[in-house]
Amino acid sequence: MAETRESLKKLLGFHGGFVVTGEAENGKEAVALAKRLRPDIVLMDINMPVMDGIEATRTISVELAMTTAVVIISVQGEQDYLTEAMAAGARGYLVKPFSADELVSTIRRTHDMEIQRRAQLMPSIPLQGKLGRIISIYSAKGGVGKTTIAVNLAAELGKERDRKVVLVDLDLQFGDVAIMLDTSPVRTIADIAREEEVDSETVEACLLKHNTGISVLASPLRPEQGETVAGRHVLAILKLLAESYDFVIVDLAQRLDDISLAGLDMADIILLVASTDLPSIKNAKASIEIMESLGYESKMIKLALSRPSREHGLDISEIEKTLKRKVDVQIPNEERVVFPSVNKGAPFTISSPTAKVSVAIRELAKIISPPGKEDAVAKRGFGRGKPGPRKRTAGILAWIFSMFLNG
Ligand SMILES: Nc1ncnc2c1ncn2[C@@H]1O[C@H](COP(=O)(O)OP(=O)(O)OP(=O)(O)O)[C@@H](O)[C@H]1O
Ligand SMILES: [Mg+2]
Repeated sequence: MAETRESLKKLLGFHGGFVVTGEAENGKEAVALAKRLRPDIVLMDINMPVMDGIEATRTISVELAMTTAVVIISVQGEQDYLTEAMAAGARGYLVKPFSADELVSTIRRTHDMEIQRRAQLMPSIPLQGKLGRIISIYSAKGGVGKTTIAVNLAAELGKERDRKVVLVDLDLQFGDVAIMLDTSPVRTIADIAREEEVDSETVEACLLKHNTGISVLASPLRPEQGETVAGRHVLAILKLLAESYDFVIVDLAQRLDDISLAGLDMADIILLVASTDLPSIKNAKASIEIMESLGYESKMIKLALSRPSREHGLDISEIEKTLKRKVDVQIPNEERVVFPSVNKGAPFTISSPTAKVSVAIRELAKIISPPGKEDAVAKRGFGRGKPGPRKRTAGILAWIFSMFLNG
């Protein structure tokens, strides 16, 4: 029932730190949605109209064996059904009524076991494609240089000829990526959101090939078109892109909405950009606290100071003390290089590779892609990662499919 799903969704979000990205009324709908969005976990009720939970579990377990695990829910006394569901491929089960703790721990345990199971199977599975690293660039304050960093970092990474780099503009209202690359996109992320299914062909068809060699997924041409894009589109798009690109650089808007949260949630590395003024540091501190409360691992957050001013800015050691972390990289203020680059739409890492600001971006590229580690990224294989949760304490995009939990 819808209201039960709603309360469960809240519970999973607040209590478990999961992202619930979809729900379905019946087994048939659940199968179709699961095929489209490939969630990590499906919570499936046994008793459902149209197609029952056991049949839906069987289909998902066979067809999505390497992406999606089913946790089945039954009521007490349905022991036979439960056995049947496990035989149909369910990886975990919950018996109603269950507590919030049981729910959360079952999802986590099932997910962790799934990751380990897939890792065991890995050697015998041909690699479907490289799995790239997603770097999401965020600042709680506008105008600090996020897009400048995103564009130039992508161009820097793209200098290696055999590296595939894609830059995604998730500032859906006022994205500047296309203009900073002097391009006029015909298709944008809004065109993907309009399609019924987010598949790799659709995503690929909406990318723009830039003359630096990188690909770009532009933000909508008009601010109101951004409203068609939802968090679930972003999750699906980033997941697909990471399957075929080595680096997915994501430029986020300042607002912490479901779009930005989806961008952060999918990230392997979050680059938090701040400037050396008090409001920016205050907002950076609040952002770090939010990220920690969301369960992001501290080590996946990197701190960039943009345009630090020795004369007028806050002292770096004070900033580090306030934020309780070290500054990973400083991007110097170099208007002479940056302004013409922004106005011409030509990345300075290409046009002025020896400028101080370009050297700093190169340093940043090394931080996010340490030498010798790249192969590991490319070969790490299925399921976006090693055994165990990727970053959240739970690390799951949980989906609820038709829940009738009152019983
Ligand atoms: N390192 C730098 N040196 C000099 N000027 C810079 C530097 N980085 C950014 N700028 C200037 O600051 C302006 C704003 O930068 P940018 O658009 O990258 O910020 P943003 O954080 O993406 O802003 P928004 O919040 O609007 O998305 C740029 O147009 C550029 O002129
Ligand atoms: Mg920007």
